[in-house]
Amino acid sequence: IHTPSPTLLEVKHNCAVGVDVDSRIAFIEECPNATAIPLVANLHAWDAFDTVISDELSPGRSNFFFPGLIDTHTHASQYPNAGIFGNSTLLDWLNTYTFPLEGSFSSLDRAKHVYNRVVHRSLSHGTTAAAYYATVHVSATNLLADVCQARGQRALVGRVCMDRMSPETYRDESTESALRDTQACIDHCASIDPSGSLIRPVITPRFAPSCTVATLNALGELHQRTKHFVQTHISENHSEIELVKELFPKAKDYASVYDDAGLLSERTILAHAVHLTKDEIDLVGKRGTGVSHCPTSNTCITSGEAPVRKLLEAGIPVGLGTDVSGGYSPSILDMARHALLVSRHIAMREGPAVKLDISEALYLATMGGAKVMGLEGVVGKFEIGMEFDAMLVGLAHCQSDNGPEEASGENSEAVDVNDGPVDVFGWESWEDRVAKWVYGGDDRNVKRERSYFVLQLAWEPTIGRKADG
Ligand code: GUN
Ligand code: FE
Repeated sequence: IHTPSPTLLEVKHNCAVGVDVDSRIAFIEECPNATAIPLVANLHAWDAFDTVISDELSPGRSNFFFPGLIDTHTHASQYPNAGIFGNSTLLDWLNTYTFPLEGSFSSLDRAKHVYNRVVHRSLSHGTTAAAYYATVHVSATNLLADVCQARGQRALVGRVCMDRMSPETYRDESTESALRDTQACIDHCASIDPSGSLIRPVITPRFAPSCTVATLNALGELHQRTKHFVQTHISENHSEIELVKELFPKAKDYASVYDDAGLLSERTILAHAVHLTKDEIDLVGKRGTGVSHCPTSNTCITSGEAPVRKLLEAGIPVGLGTDVSGGYSPSILDMARHALLVSRHIAMREGPAVKLDISEALYLATMGGAKVMGLEGVVGKFEIGMEFDAMLVGLAHCQSDNGPEEASGENSEAVDVNDGPVDVFGWESWEDRVAKWVYGGDDRNVKRERSYFVLQLAWEPTIGRKADG
């Protein structure tokens, strides 16, 4: 099951997917007459692989492969604060909760402990690629890149730049030091993954208010020269927008602050974009810049409702972001659900055309995220030549022959809730089952993560059945 376009939730039954040793999809064959189950095959280790997978995909189970989810905006360093935001809004939230926590990542022990938890947790929710903000600390940022690589999560890793409106003890000293430390993190990423196929650096001015014009310009020049990705925040909250007007009196608007510095391109990720004007939407669209929609964060710290339909209609690539810890959840499935809910809130004022549907929300979670992170054609859907970047989703299937041993009383039947939070009775269409997953699922439904398949593909080559005919 995948969403190759926003309006298509494609369900393929009885399909064989051939995956080569380099994790690329080699063939997709429909086997309409197969009485057996769908197979995923390493062409070189078919027999070993199929016995492991076949049990999971046996007939009568509501299990399916789905592309890995993509988190286009999150703060790895803020994970310990997930759920802790009280009644704050952006600017006081930053000062009260966020800067003190991020400042503590001068401790590498802390960074190691937290970053291992974050990446593990993100993967367990089926997220195979993420755009991370770390902190200003070079060593801790480099450690995050190491952890992503060791755990096999594709990542953009950003060292945060902030040289004003930040605590004395947690900031860049100057434009020169911000640039030097950014370069050190870029060099580290290049040293651990020269091809950049898994780990890439991302130039990360925190947001306009915490950067001087000189620093924004220097980072913009670096972006134009090196083509490394950029990530930052934009137009999240009204007080922030007012502050940008005060701090950048010469700029036409918030988006122009970044554009004037050379920071807007098709390799830039803008988080939030809740309150952009028509002119700003046009500019962002013209630059081909992507937006990370963070519905949970925007609700938790009461920033507003991002006009996703409007952004999409302007041709802007949109992905989903957890924005931990403005948002409390590291799950992109939660973000798909919350994007659906936020669009319904807007619909209550503006009419039903702005509502997202399930295929659109899942498209944002996969293909949209891939576009925003420069991974188009690499991951996000199942197609020949693309990576088999997937998870196995399982929904608890309620069959009437569930062992009755726990039952007590005439109308009491055994119920096993350990299988996951979603009950499928068997009569639902596959579209209905996916809807149940989107609205009711969680990490318990992720039966196998991508790392499992990568491990399988690394097995010793044996004689392939395909090659034998
Ligand atoms: N704007 C500047 N910094 C941040 C941050 O850490 N989180 C969010 N949500 N917005 C920001
Ligand atoms: Fe953020």
